[in-house]
Parts: sequence; structure tokens; C-alpha cells
Amino acid sequence: MKKSVVILGTQWGDEGKGKIVDLLTERADAVVRFQGGHNAGHTLIINDEKTVLHLIPSGILREGVKCYIGNGVVIEPTALIKEIKNLEASGVDVQSRLYISKSAPVIMPYHITLDQLREAKKGKKAIGTTGRGIGPSYEDKVARRGIRIGDLLHADLLKEKLTHVLEYHNFVIKNYHGAEPLSFDEVYQNALQQADFIRDMCIDVTGELHHHLNQGDKLLMEGAQGSLLDIDHGTYPFVTSSNTTSGSASTGSGLGVTDIDYVLGITKAYTTRVGGGPFPTELFDEDGAELAKRGVEFGATTGRPRRCGWLDLVALKRAVQVNGITGLCVTKLDVLDTFKSIKLCTSYGDHSFPGAAHEWESVQPVYQSFPGWQSSTRGMTEIKDLPAQAKSIIDFIESFTGAPVHMISTGPDRNENIMLADPMS
Ligand code: IMP
Repeated sequence: MKKSVVILGTQWGDEGKGKIVDLLTERADAVVRFQGGHNAGHTLIINDEKTVLHLIPSGILREGVKCYIGNGVVIEPTALIKEIKNLEASGVDVQSRLYISKSAPVIMPYHITLDQLREAKKGKKAIGTTGRGIGPSYEDKVARRGIRIGDLLHADLLKEKLTHVLEYHNFVIKNYHGAEPLSFDEVYQNALQQADFIRDMCIDVTGELHHHLNQGDKLLMEGAQGSLLDIDHGTYPFVTSSNTTSGSASTGSGLGVTDIDYVLGITKAYTTRVGGGPFPTELFDEDGAELAKRGVEFGATTGRPRRCGWLDLVALKRAVQVNGITGLCVTKLDVLDTFKSIKLCTSYGDHSFPGAAHEWESVQPVYQSFPGWQSSTRGMTEIKDLPAQAKSIIDFIESFTGAPVHMISTGPDRNENIMLADPMS
């Protein structure tokens, strides 16, 4: 019996984690977010109804499941409160089941301002961030000047901290970027109101998670973004500002590494990326357009069209290693249904795995071609029904990466899956 299962993306995010988390939460007692912030967008389709979650764990749509936002998540209170209110307006009980770590860093308005000003200044070299203040908030955390959720709850303490930190950031906003500084009173008053709204949900999340483990409960750790956006192991500097890989499930929640029993890596049957940065298998031809159209590849958070390309097994193998992946889940297999020929990238030529931006730029992907099946796999739930050509691609993914494929997703709905081994049991 598993105690805790980590679910994370092995590519550049948008692998379909939300749907898988939602599916597996049926047997979880609690779902935990441990890194990232509201840059994430987890789309869930249940009975044809679409819900996009940014900060609140995807378990919230399952009645009775407790949801935790761990210390590793950067929290933008306006976005959080809006998400809570939206869910409650559609009848989901949130406030009695959502718990927020007092140690989590807050995304303050000046972080958002700085994120957007910096991106604008970079022009063509912009990272293509979500513009939500994620990077600047993590920077303040590491610089040890960040405001934590626990600070928000104490008006006097907040006043003192905010005075110093806003003075610092306003200096940069005004003198480096030539932009309008933020008003202390506005930021402070707004933060106090937000603190009142979330106060009762703020707890010692780490303590509560260990309490769950001690009573034999099952935890589901929900990753955001993907391994190639990891601040250390991704396509730096075109990455997000947190560790998106499995170690973060421990540091971002307070679980011990030995409390984690299973790591499920989600990969699309092809690859997508939003924002700038290297993407060795990116397609600019009809195949790329077909993937975008059939996969409905638009960012869940920003609505930006996603760049599309073939599955990159070199990167996937690295993700399997870095995350210690127990099993893979291949999503959107049905998107490949119409292709006559399907390619998988099996080498970067004589390139070793890139460690710097200029190395990524010179990668020349080498492909192996596989015949397509050109029939519908949509909604299949049994491996025996898969066309032989699809099965051989799954077999190849397993032998190349060394990780078994435990799940295959064949459509957006909760029930459109082939379960080969249940990560929860
Ligand atoms: P940031 O996380 O907003 O700083 O953005 C940094 C990079 O990560 C950009 O390329 C974003 O497009 C990308 N990114 C951040 N969150 C997600 C996500 O949830 N899915 C896909 N890409 C993301």
C-alpha cells in the first residue's frame, strides 16, 4: 500500500497532470501542491464540464479530499481568493477542505510589476514568463527578504517587513525601469484584507501531512510545470524559478524523501512548449499544425498557442533519471491517430545532454520513424484494443527510457484511460 505518490510533468508542462491527479484522487485522502504558483493551469474535464485550476490542488473537485498548498508554492492571494470564490460559486466546498502553509512565500504586487517590466525590457530575448510574479517572488525568498503567508497574518509585522522590501523594489522599479513606484498604503491595506479572508485556512501544513501519514492516509503530491522547466535541470534560463522535479515534493511540503513511495511521470505522446527557449524537436510544418489542432494546444493559463513537436526520448530519459520515476503515464495518445508516420527523437547526435543555453541551440535531433495506425484510439480503456503500431511505440518508450508505462490517456475525460498498473495500490 502506497503512502505518498508524486505526479509530475516530464516535459515543459501541460502534459495533462490535472486530469491524472483528479483520477487518482479517488483513492487519496489528501492532495498537495509543493512548488510553482498560479503560473500552472490544470484543466479538468468532468462530465463535459471544463474547470481550470491554477493554485488549488486538483483534488478539490473530489468531495472529502483535503487539499494542501505546501511551503514550496508561491501564493498570490488575489488569484487564490478568486479561485476559491469561483469554485464556491459553482457549488464546490473549498474553505473547509483547503489548507495553506504559513511558510509559503507570498507573491506581492511588486513581484508582478517587476516580472512584466523585466520581460518587456528583454524584448526578443524575453523568457516568455506567465507575467505573474513567480520569479521575483522566489528571488525574494532566496534573498531572505520575502514575505511569507504567516507574515501576512500579523498586521504590525507585515507593516515593518513591507516597508523595507517595498522601499527596495520601488527603487528598482523607479530608477532602473523608469516606471511608477507602488503605493505602500494600497499594497498594505489590500494585503490585510486578503489576510482576513485566508486566515482560517493557514496552518502548519508539514505537521498536518505527517499526521496524515501516521494514521495511514494516502497523499498525492501534485507537481506543476515540467522537468524541462526545472531551475536546475531544465533549459536554463528559459525555465521557471522553482525545482519542478521530484525532490521538490519533499522540500516543498516537508515530507521526508523516504516518505515518497512512487513517482508518476506524465508525458504527452508528443511534445509542446509555451513561451520562449530551446525545443529540439519543434515542428514548423503540417505535422506540427496537425498536432496543435488535434491536441487543442493553447496554454491553460495565458491562452497562448503552444509550440508542438515530436516526442523527445532523450529529454524523457533524463527526466526519468532526475525524478527517479517509478512509472510513466503517456497522455494524448489519441492525438496521433491520424498520422501516417510518427517520429521519436532518439539522440541529439554527438551532443551530450546540454548544460547551457548555447548548447541547446546547437542540438540536432536524430529521429526513429514508426508507422502510424490511422484509426481511432479515442476513449480506449483496454491495452488489448490498442492498434499494434501504437503498442510498439509504447514498448519503445519503455525500452528507451527504462521506465515502465503504467498508464495511457486516450482522451480528455476522467474515464478515458488505460490503466496498466495503478500507482495508488
Ligand atoms: P514563469 O513560471 O511565469 O516564470 O515562466 C517561465 C517559463 O515557464 C515560461 O516559458 C512559461 O511559459 C513556462 N511555464 C510556467 N508555468 C507553466 C505551466 O504551467 N505550463 C507550461 N509552461 C509554464
